[in-house]
Amino acid sequence: MNSEFELFPEAASKAAGSVDALFIFMVALSLVMSVLIAAMLLYFAIKYRRGTAVNRDQEPTSITTELTWIAAMLPVLLFIFFWGAKVCFELLKVPEGAMPINVVAKQWMWKFQHPDGRREIDVLHVPVGRPVALTMISQDVIHSFFVPAFRVKQDVLPGRYTTLWFEAAKPGNYRLYCAEYCGTNHSKMVGRIVALSQEDFAKWLAGENMADTSPISAGERLFGQLQCASCHERMQGPNRAPSLAGIFGKTTPLADGSTAVIDEEYLRESILRPAAKVVAGFQPIMPPYEGQIGEEHLLELIAYIKSLETPEDGAAL
Ligand code: CUA
Repeated sequence: MNSEFELFPEAASKAAGSVDALFIFMVALSLVMSVLIAAMLLYFAIKYRRGTAVNRDQEPTSITTELTWIAAMLPVLLFIFFWGAKVCFELLKVPEGAMPINVVAKQWMWKFQHPDGRREIDVLHVPVGRPVALTMISQDVIHSFFVPAFRVKQDVLPGRYTTLWFEAAKPGNYRLYCAEYCGTNHSKMVGRIVALSQEDFAKWLAGENMADTSPISAGERLFGQLQCASCHERMQGPNRAPSLAGIFGKTTPLADGSTAVIDEEYLRESILRPAAKVVAGFQPIMPPYEGQIGEEHLLELIAYIKSLETPEDGAAL
């Protein structure tokens, strides 16, 4: 990777091959069609040029020709559609056991946090051969996380989590771009992904840079500081607020009669604007934390809540 300018970036992720195959197929098909059209254009231009003795009467359009043309093209387009959908689903479905990384974007930098708490800015170290799942949010405007060598791109939005996953296929340094115009220094909002072999990654993790506390323990500390436990009793029992143990991923009935799935998005909203979706059987007494907790701390609180298991699971709380 000596050249600054890359016409076709190297393929360095597990998904790159299937994205490239589809892309090359579509380019090839477009080329064939373009050449065909250009050749016919040239042929007719010469044949019907001024002064040639040819029949210039227009023949009525034949319905058979039209139908044949449509019938021939439909399977080709459907083939591209299903192929594209297959690749798209592969890119969207996060594999089980992926390494979770929190990403907070802001003007104009990328902040990363590893499961062990280690933080990085504009550089993300990942192991080769292991899927990495990013949970991303923006602190200000819309950004877009784009790693050409991995063939992945995803908008990073304020107020909403988006996810993206990739699996680096070979060690190296890969460029990370912000692909959404986000203000004056948008063009400088670049970084790199450093893919290390599993061994080197383990070494890097054990390296000298001090690991911060993990998101889970940081979340636990915040949970204490904000005195969440005064209402959200960890053990069950009648209380002013729902127990948080083992709730992640469950569906809960709401006071308005509807239901909600408890995911990252729901937890985030319920911390910032608790009155938006009140759990059935409880009063909307929790104070809103909007403007008081930053995105990084929200991710830590959510990591902590996700880690809480139900008492029946035998986990000590
Ligand atoms: Cu962030 Cu452009």
